[in-house]
Amino acid sequence: MPDESVKVAVRVRPFNQREKDRQAKLIIKMQGQMTTIKNPETPNEEPKSFSFDYSYWSHDGFQEKSDGILEPAGGSNYASQRRVFEDLGQGVLDNAFEGYNCSLFAYGQTGSGKSFSMVGYGNNKGIVPITCDEMFKAMGRNSDSNKRFEVTFSMLEIYNEQVRDLLSKDNPKGGLNVRQNPKLGLFYVENLKRVPVGSYAEIEKRTEQGTASRTVASTNMNATSSRAHTVVTITFDQIIKNDSGSETKKSSVMNLVDLAGSERADSTGATGDRLKEGANINKSLSALGNVISALADLSMGTKKKIMVPYRDSVLTKLLQNALGGNSKTIMIAALSPADINYDETLSTLRYADRAKKIKNKAVVNENPLDKLIRELKEENEKLKKAMESGGVVMQEGTGLSPEELEKMRKQMEEDIRAQLMANQAMLADNDQSWDDKLAEARTETEKIEGGADDKRKTKEPHLINLNEDPMLSGVICHFLNGGETSIGRKDASPTPNICLSGLSIQKQHAVIYSTKGVIEIESVSGSGSKTKINGLPLTGRKALCHKDRILFGSNHMYVLMNPMKPETADTSLPKEITWEYAQKEIAQVKGFATGSAGLSKEQQIVQEQVLEILPMVSEVNAVSEELNKQKSFEVVLISAAAQEGGDVTQSQASKVTVKMKNLLNGNTWLWERGKFITRRYLIQELYQKFLDGEDISNIPKEQDPFWEPTEDVLVGTSNLFLQSLSYCLDFEDTLNISDYKGQEEGHLKVKLEPCDAKGKPIDEEAFVDDPRDLLNKPYHFKLTIETANIHKSRFSKGILVKYTVKNNGKAEEVKTPTVKNTLTPTFNFSKIVTIPKLKQENLDFFESGCITLSVYGIQEDTMPDAKLLKLNTRELRQMENMENSQAHASGRRATMFGNEIASDTSHLKTEVVLLQRKYERLQQKERRMQQVCEEWSNKPDGEKQFEPFFRVVSAVANSTGTRLKTRVQMLNQVLQGQKFVKQMALEKSANKKAAPSNGKRPSSAEHNKTESSACVIQ
Ligand SMILES: Nc1ncnc2c1ncn2[C@@H]1O[C@H](COP(=O)(O)OP(=O)(O)OP(=O)(O)O)[C@@H](O)[C@H]1O
Ligand SMILES: [Mg+2]
Repeated sequence: MPDESVKVAVRVRPFNQREKDRQAKLIIKMQGQMTTIKNPETPNEEPKSFSFDYSYWSHDGFQEKSDGILEPAGGSNYASQRRVFEDLGQGVLDNAFEGYNCSLFAYGQTGSGKSFSMVGYGNNKGIVPITCDEMFKAMGRNSDSNKRFEVTFSMLEIYNEQVRDLLSKDNPKGGLNVRQNPKLGLFYVENLKRVPVGSYAEIEKRTEQGTASRTVASTNMNATSSRAHTVVTITFDQIIKNDSGSETKKSSVMNLVDLAGSERADSTGATGDRLKEGANINKSLSALGNVISALADLSMGTKKKIMVPYRDSVLTKLLQNALGGNSKTIMIAALSPADINYDETLSTLRYADRAKKIKNKAVVNENPLDKLIRELKEENEKLKKAMESGGVVMQEGTGLSPEELEKMRKQMEEDIRAQLMANQAMLADNDQSWDDKLAEARTETEKIEGGADDKRKTKEPHLINLNEDPMLSGVICHFLNGGETSIGRKDASPTPNICLSGLSIQKQHAVIYSTKGVIEIESVSGSGSKTKINGLPLTGRKALCHKDRILFGSNHMYVLMNPMKPETADTSLPKEITWEYAQKEIAQVKGFATGSAGLSKEQQIVQEQVLEILPMVSEVNAVSEELNKQKSFEVVLISAAAQEGGDVTQSQASKVTVKMKNLLNGNTWLWERGKFITRRYLIQELYQKFLDGEDISNIPKEQDPFWEPTEDVLVGTSNLFLQSLSYCLDFEDTLNISDYKGQEEGHLKVKLEPCDAKGKPIDEEAFVDDPRDLLNKPYHFKLTIETANIHKSRFSKGILVKYTVKNNGKAEEVKTPTVKNTLTPTFNFSKIVTIPKLKQENLDFFESGCITLSVYGIQEDTMPDAKLLKLNTRELRQMENMENSQAHASGRRATMFGNEIASDTSHLKTEVVLLQRKYERLQQKERRMQQVCEEWSNKPDGEKQFEPFFRVVSAVANSTGTRLKTRVQMLNQVLQGQKFVKQMALEKSANKKAAPSNGKRPSSAEHNKTESSACVIQ
C-alpha cells in the first residue's frame, strides 16, 4: 500500500471585536491553494507564500442567516463550516466506512479558530458534530441486513501531561495512565471510558457532558482550555456477516483533536526562571512539533536514521498512529488574520508546511471476528504465562544502569498486567451483546443533566457562566428559584443550592433573593467572602439587574439573565456579555485604561497583556492568602523610559511585569510576564495538591513557586541625555531617580565629558557649532557616576548603579561597585566610552537618545517585626492595601506615564543647558564684533579699508569654538602688520592649529596657547 501524505488545510478567521476596535490590518491572502502572509513591519518585502491541500478563506464575504449560520454572501469565496466538512469531514467519513483509521487535528494559536473549525459555535457546527451526524445518517441508509454497526465515543483532556476522562466523574489523582500495548507497541489510555452510542443525539449529549466537565475543571483552577488538548475518539466498527455465516469486523478509530493554543515558548515562557523546567505547560505541544519535524525529515530523506520522539509526551504517544502510522490524517491550521499576530501566524504556517511532508501508511482494518477473538485469547494466555514465570527478564549490557533496567522492567510488567486486564475486559465485553451494552449506556446518557432548558431560560431568572474560552462560556446555568438561593462550598451545612469550589469561595459565600423578578444579592457577613458585582466589591445587600456581572471568589464569573425584568442598569451594555467584557470592567475599576482609541500597536499589546494578567494576579493573591504565603502580587507597567537599558529613541512599549512583595520584610521582586505566567501555573499546581489533601507545608523552598532568593531590587532609573556630546561639551547634572510609577526615589549626580582615548577631558573650547564636524573621527567620552542620594531608608544596605552602553561597537554592561550602609553613596566611578568612527547614527543617538542608569538597592532577608508575624497573609495584605490606597488614588495614572514625564524633564534640562551654552557663545561673538568695530573706528582714516574690515567681521561671525579665536588672533596680526605675506604664513599655521592634520583635537596645552594669544584682541 502506498504511503500517503498528511493532508493540510489552513483557515483564516474574521477579525474579532478587539482587532476591529484597533483597526487591525489584514496580512493574509489566499488564492487557490496558495496562502500568503505579509510582514506588517516590512511592507516592501515580498510576502511569503505557502501551498496547502486546502486554503479556506473565512475572513469576510459572509452573511448571517436568521438561524445564525454564516454563509457566503453574493458569490464570495467565504468557506463555511459546511464547505469545510464537505472537503475534510466527508473524507474522514468515507475512510471510516472503508475501515481506515482517521485523525483530524487542529493547530493554531489561542483564539485562532481551532475550536470553531472542530466543534463550532451555536448553529455553526464544526467538523466533529457534522461528521458524527452524517455518520449516523449514513448508517441509517444501510439496507444490508448482514451489516451492523457499533460506535463508541470517548472524550479526554490532556493538561499538564495528565489525562482526564471527561466522561467520568472519578478521575484518579495524577490522571489516567497511558500504557503501551506490549504486542503492538501502541499507546492507549488505561480505563478510559468508551461509551456505546446509538445516535447523533447521544454523541451531542456526551459532548455536552465532556464540555461541562472541562468548564468545571477550568473554573476550579485545573486546566484553562487554551492550555489543554481535547481528544475525542470515535470507534466505528462494521460487523459484516458473510454467506458462510462467519463475521468480519471492519474497524476505524477516529481521533479528533482540538489542540491547546500554540503560543511559542519565548512569548509566554519564562526565560531564565529557575522553576521553568517544572512547568510542563506546553510539553505535549513542543513534543508534537519535534515529532512532526522528525517525520518530515524522514520522509524527505534528509536524515536517514531518526528516532521519532513519540515517547516524549502524552499527546504524541496517543497520536502515534495519526502521525506516521496507520491512519489517514488531516491537519487544520487555524490562522489569525491580524497584523499583531504576524509572528505566531507565520510560525503556524511553517508548522503546517512541515506537517504536509509526513507520510502515513493507512491500512484497512478488517479481520474475521473469530480470528480476532482467538488472537485475543492466545495473547492473553501468553501474557499470563509471562507473568507467572517471574515476569519480565531484562537483558544485561544494554548500556542502562541497574536502576534504569529495574525501572523499565517494572514499567513493562505493569504494561503487561494492564494489557491482560484490558484483554479480559474485552473478552467479557464480547460476551455481552452490543444491544445490551448500548441500552445500558443509554440509560446513563439519559440521566446526564442536559444543557439548561432553553424554554426555561426565556422565562426564569438565571445565572450563566463566563469563561476565558468562549467554548466553555454559557455551559453552566443555575436557575434562581423564587426565594433564596444560597451559594457556597459543598462542605457547608446545610448544603448550598449552588455549590462552588475553588479559590476564595467561602462555605457560606452569598445569598441571592428572587421574588417575582426582583433580584438582590447579599454577601454573607463575617465570612470575608469575596464577590464582585460589575467589577465592584459587594458589601451588604444589593439589587441586581439583567446582565449584571457577578464574580464569586477568584474564578467563578456569571452573568445574571433576568427575562422577567429585561431592563439593564447600563444602556451601553453590549448585546452579549463576554468574559472579556467582564474582565475589562474589573480592570477599569482597578484604574487601568481599557479603551483602545489612539493607542499605538505596542500600547495595544501592553493593554491586552494587562487584561490577560490581571485575573491571574488576583488568583495568585488569593492562593497566597489561602496558603498563607505572606506574599502579595501586583501588576506593574514599566514605562519605556524606566526599562533597564531602555532606549527611548525607539518606540519601546511599556513592559508588563508583576511585582511580588514579601509582606513581612518589604522585600520585592519584579517578574517579567513570562516568568509570572509560569509561576502562576506552578502556583495553581501547588494549590491543586493542597486541595487534593497533600501536605505542602514542607516543600523545599527551591521548589516553592512563591519563593525567590533575595536579589538586588531596582530603586529606580535616571535617564542621562547625551545632546551635549554632539557639541563636544561636558555636562554635569543631578538627575532624578524615578521608580516605575514615576515617583522620585532620589538623585544621582553624574558627569558626562568628551575626552581623549585615555579619559583626559577635552577642553571646553572644543565646542563645535555643527555636530557634523565630528563625523568620521574617533570620539571618546567619559561617564562618571559621582554620588547618589536615596530617599527610602530600606535601601541603606547597599546601593549600586548599572547601565548598558555601546562601547567600541559592542553593548557593554557597566556596574559600579556597591556602596554599603549609606543612603548617600559616593561612587566616583568612571567609564570611558569609545566610538571608533563617529557616524550619523551616533549623532542621532546623541541628539535624542539616552543612557538609562538603573539604581539598585540590595535586599537582605531580614527578620520581620514580631507583630507582623502574628498576622496571616489576608491581614497583611489588607494592611498593605490600606497603606497603598492613598498612593493608588493619585498614583495610578503615573504608573503609565510618570516616568515619561520624568524623562522628558531631564531631556529638556539638557536642552536648556545646551541652549545656554550656545547663547553664551553668541554673546561672546557679539562682544568680539563690538570690539572689532570699536578698534576699527579708532584707527587712523587711512587704515579704514573695507576689505580687511569685512574679513575680520565675517571671520568672527562665522567662527566656531577654537577656530573663532585663532582666526581673530590671525586677523588681528594681519591688521597690525598689514603685510600680506606674513598674513598668509600666519593663516597657514593658524589653520593647522584649528584642524590638526592627524584628526586629533588640539591638546589642552595648545589650547592654552591660543587662548593666551587670542587675548591680544580682547
Ligand atoms: N471561521 C470563523 N468564522 C467566524 N468566527 C470564527 C471563525 N473562527 C473562529 N471564530 C471566532 O473566533 C473566536 C475564537 O475562536 P476559537 O474559540 O475557535 O479559538 P481557539 O483556536 O479554539 O482558541 P483556544 O486555543 O483559546 O481554544 C470565537 O469567538 C469564534 O467564534
Ligand atoms: Mg479552543
